Amino acid sequence: MQKDKLIVALDVHTMEDVKSLVDKLGNSVNFYKVGMELFYSVGKDVVTFLKEKNKKVFLDLKLFDIPNTVAGGLTSLMSLGADMINVHASGGFSMMEKGAKALREAAKKAGIEPPKIIAVTVLTSMNDDEWKQMGHTTAISDQVILFAKLAKQAGLDGVVASPMEAAAIRKAVGEDFLIVTPGVRPAGADINDQSRIATPKSALEAGATHLVVGRPIRAAKDPKIAAENILKEIE
Ligand code: C5P
Repeated sequence: MQKDKLIVALDVHTMEDVKSLVDKLGNSVNFYKVGMELFYSVGKDVVTFLKEKNKKVFLDLKLFDIPNTVAGGLTSLMSLGADMINVHASGGFSMMEKGAKALREAAKKAGIEPPKIIAVTVLTSMNDDEWKQMGHTTAISDQVILFAKLAKQAGLDGVVASPMEAAAIRKAVGEDFLIVTPGVRPAGADINDQSRIATPKSALEAGATHLVVGRPIRAAKDPKIAAENILKEIE
């Protein structure tokens, strides 16, 4: 469904704010991203609320720890009923592989469809200067491709990446792989703290399967109109 290609980032702190935004967006939006600031303050209630409203949920908690701990964390999160969940690719092959396996086994045991598990490549807020400052000598774009291939080999369903890297990822990993892109800004919108951004149209043309959009919708005078304009561009 075209509508499911838009994932709205619920980067708020309270259930009241969640309810207000979900209510404002109504049937226009099907898919929401719950990140750490919301999950750490309200916990699993937000997932329950969204599922009761028949919405899809991307639980963006970006797990990153030793393989055993990530596998355990994903097993615990599986029961919440999210549709998509993620880990950091920089946690390595074993972490991704063990995590995905544990998640799918737990879902099988519970008799439910396993959530899609995707890997964050390099944060879209990262620019070249900051990247080099961390001691990296490979270019961000090469690192992203390496992480995408690693995620695929580890059995993950896709990656989170900048729309600017979507085309190269698609070329490297083939068709059957999700590419979820934050850092999406409609023409003329404030870029905020994002660096490697693109418009919804160009992100999809580059091979993105899902667009994560937060502030351009949340901070709009009319969030529903802002979401619908992006959906028009998607269609
Ligand atoms: O408000 P904005 O559209 O920039 O929100 C983007 C969302 O995507 C935020 O919730 C951010 O945490 C998330 N994200 C990102 N870059 C990544 C992974 C997730 O911006 N690589």
